[in-house]
Amino acid sequence: MTSLLETPVPAAADDLTLRRGAARVLLRNWTGISTVPSRGLYPHQWSWDSAFIAIGLRHLSVRRAQRELESLLGAQWVDGRVPHIVFNPQVPLDAYFPSPDFWRSSTAGAAAGAPTHTETSGIVQPPVHAMAAWLVHEADPQASRRRGFLPRLYGRLAAWHDYLTGPRDLGRGGLAAMVHPWEPGMDNSPCWDGPLARVDPVAAGSYRRADLDHGQPAERPTDLDYGRYVRLATDYRDSGYADAGSDHAFAVEDPCVNALLIVSEHALARIAAEIGADPAPHEERAARLTAALVERLWSPADGMFLNRDLVGGDLIAERSIAGLVPLIVPALPQHIVDALLTTAAGPGFRLGAVPMLPSYDFDGRDFDPSRYWRGPAWFNTNWLLERGLRQYGQLGAADALRTAMLGAAGTSGFAEYVDPVTAQARGTRDFGWTAALTLDLLAGRRSADPGLASPSNGART
Ligand code: SER
Repeated sequence: MTSLLETPVPAAADDLTLRRGAARVLLRNWTGISTVPSRGLYPHQWSWDSAFIAIGLRHLSVRRAQRELESLLGAQWVDGRVPHIVFNPQVPLDAYFPSPDFWRSSTAGAAAGAPTHTETSGIVQPPVHAMAAWLVHEADPQASRRRGFLPRLYGRLAAWHDYLTGPRDLGRGGLAAMVHPWEPGMDNSPCWDGPLARVDPVAAGSYRRADLDHGQPAERPTDLDYGRYVRLATDYRDSGYADAGSDHAFAVEDPCVNALLIVSEHALARIAAEIGADPAPHEERAARLTAALVERLWSPADGMFLNRDLVGGDLIAERSIAGLVPLIVPALPQHIVDALLTTAAGPGFRLGAVPMLPSYDFDGRDFDPSRYWRGPAWFNTNWLLERGLRQYGQLGAADALRTAMLGAAGTSGFAEYVDPVTAQARGTRDFGWTAALTLDLLAGRRSADPGLASPSNGART
């Protein structure tokens, strides 16, 4: 018999509509083993999309959320990298560019240990996966234990972090480096304009962009950007996807990527403890990464973290949302937390004054409210900020951001990104992580929810 206290409180009608709409997107985008970010624009499995999607999917089906992560990690390379795309062989080659016949992972990636049973890209995306695995486990620990979910994933997740902190520590300063703008996931951020200016674009007619079949050109990267993306990917492929010893024309240390690595390393510690392994090495690595993040990427003058260009050697003087995402890192020095909160609320990002934080400084020279990562607000970065605010006790700001995100998700048709001031839809619609993170926000939060805590069934404060 259900006691009165256990009776679920009925959601407000609009929350219910939102929940149904988000669930419908995830059900439509489900392929049987994973979820596409979008049926048209992104018809395969993407790495960090799958992690964010699993975080929302756990509220609909823990089993599917587990499979989402298992199918992605099933395509892991022997060297530990988790590819940024796992291709669905049933999707026509011309539906997405670059297609499997461009990456040729099973042959060009053989030396790095690419799988032979599936085709993937050869680059990576931010390591949200251990964090997602822990949150999926927490949604139903008994079902997780019954299926041996964490014991099966632990070795793969640890190998993934070993890859990022080993071969990918190209700067030898203790952080993971990204070698292509698609890797940090913020493809055309103005942060990359300087480093990309050194890259010779391939000839315009040598490939066909499939993204413009689905997206507005004004909301997507330019042809010049694409020419450079293709050059970098071609060169990396032709090196056999080698990291050490390769002459990378593009190599950066990104604060969002490394912050996610730290939170995921803390999650690995919890996973280790849960399955009877030793959590200490993971906590130690998380602490080392946190020290390196502050040492190498903190800019006191900007009051936020910046990217480091490993080719030129300097910090990149462009302020993007990536520099505020480290608020999700636990135990940051108080003066850094204070500065991040001041910067978030300042003229560059206007926390509390606009519905959602932009992907790039409102006052930046290259700010564009519509073009992909050059200004629009994205749901994943705002979800991370919402958790970071809550972690550091900014409950009012977190609640307001949560409410604004839910509003924007609903009115935009679960858009890929929105104008940060008007919240009007940009990019594609029915986007996987927008729907998934909507479900997660609807599930509620603890009053001082630390970065990894599970949602509560109870009061939100
Ligand atoms: N974000 C890229 C794209 O637009 C790929 O990761 O296709």
